[in-house]
Amino acid sequence: MSQTLAVLASGGGSNLQAILDAIAEGRLDSEVVLVASNKEDAGALERARKVGVRAEWVEPGDDYNERLHALLLEADPDLVVLAGYLKLISAETVGHWKGAMLNIHPALLPSFGGKGMYGIHVHEAVLEYGVKVTGVTVHLVDEEYDRGPIVAQMPVAVHDGDTPEQLQQRVLKTEHEIYPLVLQWFAKGRVSLDGRIVSVAGSPNDND
Ligand code: GRF
Repeated sequence: MSQTLAVLASGGGSNLQAILDAIAEGRLDSEVVLVASNKEDAGALERARKVGVRAEWVEPGDDYNERLHALLLEADPDLVVLAGYLKLISAETVGHWKGAMLNIHPALLPSFGGKGMYGIHVHEAVLEYGVKVTGVTVHLVDEEYDRGPIVAQMPVAVHDGDTPEQLQQRVLKTEHEIYPLVLQWFAKGRVSLDGRIVSVAGSPNDND
């Protein structure tokens, strides 16, 4: 049986699409069993429905976290995949999927992470600082926002004269490559954790 994924997304869902495409093309041995969002109009929900994947809008409210947790328990995925999910996950949910919840961040953590560092703000901060290399980080989610064990990072060059939007697009392309690849490492049981140090057996591009 292939690895099951629940994807949480608040936005357009291009990372979700990259995951769905990788599954359809046989590069990722997984099944998306649930896509959930805090935004009713999230593109991610639309993309899921289009291919017959269960898509649920979790309406914001006092017991939002409890309802999301219940939904995840019901779907019972092997991994919870955050893909542009802009809400803090409750400690209870993080605890339940410890070592099995991933997030993707559009910069090289621990730089340009933490409070306020989401979406275009990350790329604005990168350009303002003047770093010459930015990139993508996939990390396990723990209680500390953007601080969980790093599973993979990929660099992306900052070009002279880049606008935040241009940089965002270049970084996003790399996100679409790295997320399915990392998920496949998990599918193949190649990832191990020692404290906060993650090791991946074999060479990064092996697909078995
Ligand atoms: C990505 O840049 C991701 O790294 C960040 O939010 C963005 C989501 O994009 N956390 P999309 O919704 O997958 O297109």
